[in-house]
Amino acid sequence: MMAPLPPLQSIPEDLRTLADYEARAKAHLTAEAWLHIQQGSGREITLRQNRGAFDRLGLLPRALVKLKGASTATDLLGRRHAAPLLLAPLAYQRIAHSEGELACVRAATALDTGMIVSTLASISLEEVAAAARSMAAELGKATAPLWFQLYLQPEREHSLQLVRRAEAAGYEAIVLTIDAALKPTGMTLPKGVSAVNLAGLPQARHTAAPGGQVLFGTPLADAAPGWDDLAWLRRNTRLPLLLKGLLLGADAARAVDEGVDGIILSNHGGRVLDGLPSALDMLPDVIDATRGEVPLLLDGGVRQGTDIIKALALGAQAVLVGRPQMHALAVAGLPGVAHMLQILRAELEAALGQLGCRTPGGLSPDWLIALNR
Ligand code: FNR
Repeated sequence: MMAPLPPLQSIPEDLRTLADYEARAKAHLTAEAWLHIQQGSGREITLRQNRGAFDRLGLLPRALVKLKGASTATDLLGRRHAAPLLLAPLAYQRIAHSEGELACVRAATALDTGMIVSTLASISLEEVAAAARSMAAELGKATAPLWFQLYLQPEREHSLQLVRRAEAAGYEAIVLTIDAALKPTGMTLPKGVSAVNLAGLPQARHTAAPGGQVLFGTPLADAAPGWDDLAWLRRNTRLPLLLKGLLLGADAARAVDEGVDGIILSNHGGRVLDGLPSALDMLPDVIDATRGEVPLLLDGGVRQGTDIIKALALGAQAVLVGRPQMHALAVAGLPGVAHMLQILRAELEAALGQLGCRTPGGLSPDWLIALNR
């Protein structure tokens, strides 16, 4: 088998879209890492829905709108974001590039973009936060918002240790991911890549065995979190708490009652339960149930500026981008991720301008039309 290509030293001019990065990334990754990043679960019905939901929507422009004063700036949880866009939490970014999360957080800082750092990051949460601060100091600017994504650990005291570490390191919010508690362990990690935040903590692992493996009755199933765990977490941190990985309005309403500060609609990039609908298709249900009480974010399939517009027009406050981080990291490391974010920002501005909408807040369902496809 051919060895993967090293990351590029400079970015060639033919890399113009996120699709270009995706197409090129395969040659820079091992076959196993590529599959791990790209694959959806089952027959990938959900993975296809994530793109299909965006592609089924068209945009309705307004004519002759002046753009003076136009801006993509977005306020979320009391903080200004340069655009309604954050980096989604991704485990083990060092499988794509040796600098992994450090490259991503530096790129995010340079582009004033928020980043959600995974519990399963391959660089410690403290080192990622320190890299964000030193990059911001080097560039003479403020740090971009950093949030910590929490996977609940089998023992509450271990979850709490992670939360306290995130608080001490300056993370500004906790994102509790709830849709992957039963996900089988993924790829065999390359040497030197591991979930360093969890070093020394006991894990209940579930390995996908060929031909299946029973789940019920295993330590993994027995440790699956419930609403009481959310209530416990809410009581135990003063940081804003977001819940990631729900799709139903009724669940969102209950989460708001439990005191969450935001919801991230997600099907985990189509990687967990095949047959789930896209977050975009479920957004109206969640909006009906939560009535603007908390910000709603979503992810899954965001690949171009117009996708961001469609999500916002349906009522999301911001979107997250997942796999494109890995593609850009694999192809060109830090400059690649910065370029990927710049492309999305430029596409968002171009599309808002062409639509005749000066700010993300000006979007509503009136800007959308169902396409016959
Ligand atoms: C993920 N995702 C994820 N989510 C999370 O909360 N914690 C994690 O550690 C990970 N790890 C992870 C690894 C890889 C390789 C992928 C592709 C995804 C899910 C991620 O945050 C996000 O929900 C999806 O990736 C969004 O879909 P797109 O943008 O990849 O289509």
